[in-house]
Amino acid sequence: MELNSIINEFIKLYGGSKDDLRVFQSPGRVNMIGEHTDYNGGFVFPAALTMCTTIVVRKRNDNIIRLKATDLDIMVEADIDKLDSYRDLKWGNYQLGVAYVLQEAGYDIVGCDMLYDDTVPHGSGLSSSAAIEVATALCFATFSNEKNGIIKDVDMIEMAKLGQKAENQYCGVNCGIMDQFASAMGKKDHAIFLKCDDLSFDYAPILLNGMKIVLSNTKKKHSLGASKYNERRAECEQGYKILSAALPGKKCLGEISVEEFEANKHLIEDDVILKRIKHVIYEDDRVLKSVEALKNGDVKAFGSYMNASGDSLRYDYEVTGDELDVMVEEARKIDGVIGSRMTGGGFGGCTVSIVKEDSVDRFIEQVGKNYTARTGIVPEFYVSDIGDGGKEIIDF
Ligand code: GLA
Repeated sequence: MELNSIINEFIKLYGGSKDDLRVFQSPGRVNMIGEHTDYNGGFVFPAALTMCTTIVVRKRNDNIIRLKATDLDIMVEADIDKLDSYRDLKWGNYQLGVAYVLQEAGYDIVGCDMLYDDTVPHGSGLSSSAAIEVATALCFATFSNEKNGIIKDVDMIEMAKLGQKAENQYCGVNCGIMDQFASAMGKKDHAIFLKCDDLSFDYAPILLNGMKIVLSNTKKKHSLGASKYNERRAECEQGYKILSAALPGKKCLGEISVEEFEANKHLIEDDVILKRIKHVIYEDDRVLKSVEALKNGDVKAFGSYMNASGDSLRYDYEVTGDELDVMVEEARKIDGVIGSRMTGGGFGGCTVSIVKEDSVDRFIEQVGKNYTARTGIVPEFYVSDIGDGGKEIIDF
């Protein structure tokens, strides 16, 4: 929704005027390459989208938080002294989970009325949950600082970490740090080259010269909780245990090179575990090569790494599924497509494709038609811009 409409809806709902309202925003993300590497301490290469969560909010003088979303009829009311007790909510648990972990971390949570609006499509694999978490964390941390007279900018990396902690510990989804980090730290027209074990990072311009990033939404809901995400994490841990016995000092799979893996892979007897570990080790290497290729303006090479990543996720890591496979197959048939792969956790959600600008319309028409013919589902397409990370909107 337009910001003005959200503000009008807020006033209709909670009363008062525009004068004491505040607005916080944080985006969804697309991961260009480096999938299922973050929780293995490896490299990722995500970028923030311009699709985002917007919170219009007003502080209250009591201990109550009221939450509502523009696309849902329910309103949730919570007590800031009982934040631990809202884990089972169908909606509102992500927001209150963030408030809870911030409180645990020493932030002074204040009561407020909040209205959420999301332009990141839910369940699309574009991190609508991280967008909600980071926007919420920024809002509560800002209010806490104000209440305590602390004049300093909110530490956005800490917000990313607390957002992840809420998702892990309050909502029970064992995700890595990538999504929250991208939502918190994104930069317009740049992707973030992030090393997930120590969170060191660099911005790399996404200069695609006459190409566009097209996101294709399979409309098959991707749900990390219900998917095999946690199972994959456990498989990685098993593989790491075996390899690290032979490679002492390696703190995570992300520290093991392709050469070290090749020299020791015979130690992994289980074929399934071997495939999973192979994906992680080679995917990490592809991120490094991709960043190098983009630095040299070699978008074609970047596209070929994206394709290799997609194939590895399909055949070795096995996190795609029919809808994602069909979407990628149809995309790669179109002239002008440089690379195409699933993005995010998998099992549904979106694919990301690099498409020549003058082929975008044809891409959307043909991939859409063929995808529907093969799956019976009408997909959605977004020609995406890369935007900034979470922030307060001051002028509105
Ligand atoms: C989800 C998780 C991330 C990451 C990706 C896969 O988006 O939230 O932490 O693991 O899947 O790369």
